[in-house]
Amino acid sequence: MFTESANLPPRLPATAASRIPRHVAIIMDGNGRWARQRGLARAEGHAKGGENLLRIIEVAGDLGIEFLTVYAFSVENWRRPAEEVGTLMHLLETYLVKYADTLIKKQIRLRVIGDITALPERTRRPLEVVIHETAGFAKQTLVLALNYGARAEVLRSVREIAQKAVSGRLDPAKLDWDAFAAHLDTGDIPDPDLVIRTSGETRLSNFLLLQAAYAEWYFTPVLWPDFDENCLSEAVSTFATRERRFGMTGEQLREA
Ligand code: FPP
Repeated sequence: MFTESANLPPRLPATAASRIPRHVAIIMDGNGRWARQRGLARAEGHAKGGENLLRIIEVAGDLGIEFLTVYAFSVENWRRPAEEVGTLMHLLETYLVKYADTLIKKQIRLRVIGDITALPERTRRPLEVVIHETAGFAKQTLVLALNYGARAEVLRSVREIAQKAVSGRLDPAKLDWDAFAAHLDTGDIPDPDLVIRTSGETRLSNFLLLQAAYAEWYFTPVLWPDFDENCLSEAVSTFATRERRFGMTGEQLREA
């Protein structure tokens, strides 16, 4: 799925101009290593990562990217030392205030995927307020994946579908992919076109496993706090050179 954008920053080569991914998802990895390389505490790396997200939200909008999903806290991240989990929750609360200013100024809608009922009340509340305040914006959407894991998401969906089937509200024989996908946390969000992972790791880490079935993946060694506007432009330019076949042949696509 591409959107045409006549309004591209000059950094992008002309060939990329007509192939802006509509939805970019990012695994923001490498905060800890960024801090270690500078002799700083991991918390400093996360703080820098949080600041960087603010910059990337704006750049994504400038590039014409409609949906930006970021992996902010996975279900597996609860396994980190309690102090680091506390730091991440605290950062989320403080950055949310900064993000809210930008989201409202730039008319960006905030959404979350993942089970946020498990987040501490003082983190969840401000999140729900910003989601509510920005719900009417339609041009650009920021999706925070919080306490998110693809397997847990699939289980939640399957439970809901099974409940509907048991109570006679859904006919299993009529369940097709679209009806199934509507039960995922991303129900009304289009599938990602491009998934980026920073820091040189090349794992999927339980992120949008079903939604990214046809996404292009882009792995970069750059650590998340250093992933700037040029890095995002480079990823988008690389995406523009890829041929997405969705199971067809290259010839079929060129004839279409
Ligand atoms: C991975 O770096 C990053 C995370 C586990 C969390 C992402 C968090 C942020 C970008 C900052 C805050 C975000 C919000 C929304 C406030 P890592 O710690 O695994 O890095 P490492 O692999 O180098 O140790």
